[in-house]
This record gives sequence, C-alpha cells and structure tokens, in this order.
Amino acid sequence: MDNEVKLVSGAMVALAVATAALVVMPYMEVRDIQPPPGLKPYTSAELRGRGVYIANGCVYCHSQQPRDRNFGPDFERGWGRASVPGDYIYDKPHLLGSMRTGPDLFNIASRQPSKDWHLGHLYQPRAYVPGSIMPSYPFLFTVKDAKEAEKEGEQPVSLPPAYGPNVGQVVVPTPEALDLVKYLLALNHTYPVLPPAPKP
Ligand code: HEC
Repeated sequence: MDNEVKLVSGAMVALAVATAALVVMPYMEVRDIQPPPGLKPYTSAELRGRGVYIANGCVYCHSQQPRDRNFGPDFERGWGRASVPGDYIYDKPHLLGSMRTGPDLFNIASRQPSKDWHLGHLYQPRAYVPGSIMPSYPFLFTVKDAKEAEKEGEQPVSLPPAYGPNVGQVVVPTPEALDLVKYLLALNHTYPVLPPAPKP
C-alpha cells in the first residue's frame, strides 16, 4: 500500500508543477495585456478573410512573428520590428506559424499595399515572382466571358498578359479572394509599441 501512495502523490506533484509552469504562470504574465493604441480590431470582412487564410493552409508556409533585431535577420529582410504580445490581442486563434517556406506576413500590408498585386499573386504567384514555389489558388477566382463580367459590373484581376486567360475572357475574384486580400491588407503592425527612449 505504501508504494501506491508514493506513486499517486508523486504523480500529483508532477502534474501540479507542470500546470503551474505551463498554464498558471504564462496566464499571469499575459492577463493584463492591453491592445496597443495603433492596433485596430478586424472588420467582419477581414475576419472572413482570416478564415480563408486558415482554410487554405497559408499558416503552414508563412509565419506572423518577426524576431528581435539581435536575434536574426528579420528586420534587415524588411519584416518589421519584433512583435509583442499586445499585437495578437484580436487574433483568436493566433497564426504565429512555425514554418517559413515563404516570408513572414505580419507586416505584409506595409511592404505590399496593392490589392491588385495580391489578387494576381494568389491567382498565379509565378506571374509576379519567377520560380516561386507558392501554390496558385485558381479556385478562389472564376474565369468569365469579358462582356458578361462587364455587364455584371465585376472588376477583373489585371494579370500580366502571358498569364491571363484566353482572349475574350477575364479572371474575376470570388468573395473569398476579396476577403482574403482585405485580411492581408490589414496585416500592418508597424505602429510603435514602446515609449520613446528618454533623451540623455
Ligand atoms: C507551400 C508554401 C506556401 C503556401 C501554402 C503559401 N505560400 Fe505564400 N509564399 C510562399 C513563398 C515561397 C513565397 C515567396 C515567393 C513569392 O512571393 O511567390 C510566398 C509569398 C507570399 C506573399 C508575398 C510575400 C512578400 O513578402 O512579398 C504573400 C502575400 C503570400 N505568399 C500569401 C499567401 C497566402 C494568402 C497563402 C494562402 C492562401 C499562401 N501565401 C500560401 C509559400 C507559400
């Protein structure tokens, strides 16, 4: 009987230590975090776009967590300052990502603010970046007769001529593609988060 008691109490202690270290302490560290003044909550279209981002697995190739300048070349690559916990206050779930097959997208809107570029790049990445290994997402677009699209008042994607559809046809983004690009254009965390250093 003696051994069973030791076994059970040992297991309880191990569980309590692990819960304190992995759940309670991190919670206490982040519970008082406020959103930075420069950060806006997502609009409903941006949130729908975020869903498209998750559904299409963008997070498997793109991180959203630039590292500190002293900790890697992220800043020199133009990916922005190191992120802070408050930057993620509206991100449920967060999309930090762990793979960087493609560039970090935490500040993509400040690097590439063009809606047309994003739509065209999603339709065919190789039209903009020769040799890109990013998959194309043609199912987020429909190919339509040019006259029909004009009649319906649709705004076709402007693609480099060699990558466009057949003559007389145009590529029109679906609502999902438009929402996804709205989300990408909301990824701009270049506002300051730390008070300016006091002057000596
Ligand atoms: C298999 C990996 C992979 C997946 C999945 C992927 N990408 Fe990419 N992405 C890349 C690579 C590699 C690049 C760099 C080459 C290029 O720009 O096409 C890139 C570039 C980009 C860029 C331009 C970044 C810059 O700094 O210029 C954007 C924006 C982007 N991807 C968005 C997306 C979105 C949105 C999705 C999901 C719909 C997605 N990617 C899915 C690999 C991927």
